[in-house]
Amino acid sequence: LSRANGEQVDRSIISVLDGWAAGTGPMYAKLATALRRAIADGGLRPGDPLPSERALAALLVISRVTVVAAYRDLRDAGLLISRQGSGTVVAGATPTKGARDGRVPGGQAGTIFRRLIRGGGEVISFASAIDGGAPEVAGALADVTRHDLPELLAGGGYQPAGLPALRDAIASYLTGHGLPTEPAEVLVTTGAHQALVLIGQLYLRPGDTVVVESPSWPGCLDAFRDAGARFRPVPLDDEGVRPDALAEALAGDPPPALAYLMPTYHNPGGVLMSEIRRRQVVELAARHRVPLVEDNMYQFTGNGPDSVPPPLAVHALVTARRGTRAAAEVVSVGSLSKGIWGGLRVGWVRAGGSVIERLARRKALADLGGPLLDQALAVRLLPLLDGIVAGRRVDFRAQVRRTGRMLAEWVPEWRWRAPAGGTAVWVELPEADAAAYAQVALRHGVEVIPGATMDVAGRHDGFVRLPVTFPAEVLDELGGRLAAAWADLRRHGPIGTPGPTGAGQPTTVV
Ligand SMILES: Cc1ncc(COP(=O)(O)O)c(C=O)c1O
Repeated sequence: LSRANGEQVDRSIISVLDGWAAGTGPMYAKLATALRRAIADGGLRPGDPLPSERALAALLVISRVTVVAAYRDLRDAGLLISRQGSGTVVAGATPTKGARDGRVPGGQAGTIFRRLIRGGGEVISFASAIDGGAPEVAGALADVTRHDLPELLAGGGYQPAGLPALRDAIASYLTGHGLPTEPAEVLVTTGAHQALVLIGQLYLRPGDTVVVESPSWPGCLDAFRDAGARFRPVPLDDEGVRPDALAEALAGDPPPALAYLMPTYHNPGGVLMSEIRRRQVVELAARHRVPLVEDNMYQFTGNGPDSVPPPLAVHALVTARRGTRAAAEVVSVGSLSKGIWGGLRVGWVRAGGSVIERLARRKALADLGGPLLDQALAVRLLPLLDGIVAGRRVDFRAQVRRTGRMLAEWVPEWRWRAPAGGTAVWVELPEADAAAYAQVALRHGVEVIPGATMDVAGRHDGFVRLPVTFPAEVLDELGGRLAAAWADLRRHGPIGTPGPTGAGQPTTVV
């Protein structure tokens, strides 16, 4: 809930109307079309209340007249009912139980995934910060076809815990990089995303509390939310999650079931957790007996040091070996998506053997195991990974510099710092609500993901995550669009506060 024009409004309406302002045509018609679509696909159901015209106008940063016209259109079509005193609701009988609708509780957090499903179109979208695949995939594919296929085809093809050769290769890779790992301690998953979904299923019951960073990765928040989680947010500083706040969150009531952290290049913050901080975090988790999930899927990108401090799991292992006190349970998540290619859909969980076995049962339930050809490719690519990542580091630094130049030229008031790693910069829009900016930006052909969707604490309203992965030719066009939208928003003032025309009027950009 948030206040828009003095009224408590459920902001999830923004998510339901996802992308409504893109394209051409009158604003009221685009809004009416988006409402119709939401009613047709179940995002809005019979009986659902809609915000007042004034409040929706404030949320979408448009004139009230536009909302009045759109609501009238739908009322005339029999899709909405407005009654004096009780507002506007979706018409029709309450549906019987069926497939769940596409709404993600808690707002716009699902935008990123929806964009992946619908595709980008004309809009330049911030929804995902993804690079293309490494060219080395081609050679690996030829090798798989030439050398590996007969043996693969000789087997039945179902390997829920992963292709044994890949479990071996991941275990060797991790061991070679300082985290001693047995193949039985590795589960191959369909990307880090599935790893997080399965972890959520195994560790969480409805109502359980998960400690997360503020901000955090919305995809994981969605996955844990789907498992019924509530969140307890902890802020970050330049060295990672703040230990004082983490200690308080881990000690809180009810005791958390899990803590989810991104030590190696936080998404969206771009922070690299320091070695000292890692030790503190693992000690705290051990003291409070809260399992830690470390999501290191960004470790194969980088801007700063060529080597990063050891993963949290190493610190837990050191304590366990000493045997003087209880060690933390650390579940590590990795993926080849950033280092090699998201299209491989190869990720993994590294944890104790019994946890892996239980996760493998969930994996079997989900899909009976990932495709073996992709895994065979991953076996061929893993030995090349460090070389590929070294090359990508150079690209990444150039991308960050290019993005910085674009920001300095087009929106010099925006504040940002070069990230330690990752594929995005975390940008602060001074004195602006990024959700309102997102509404205006969409009308200029840019889909901005506001910071609030990445923060269960409701902080970072003024931030946006800007991918650095846009090609140079897109960046120039993007700069122009961002600046035009910024000028529009500035002209009309921040959401919910009086614009230059005064008196708390809804902001009007049409
Ligand atoms: C922090 C984080 N974890 C997990 C994922 C999912 O990655 P994968 O492509 O390996 O499923 C992403 C995707 O961008 C991410 O940013």
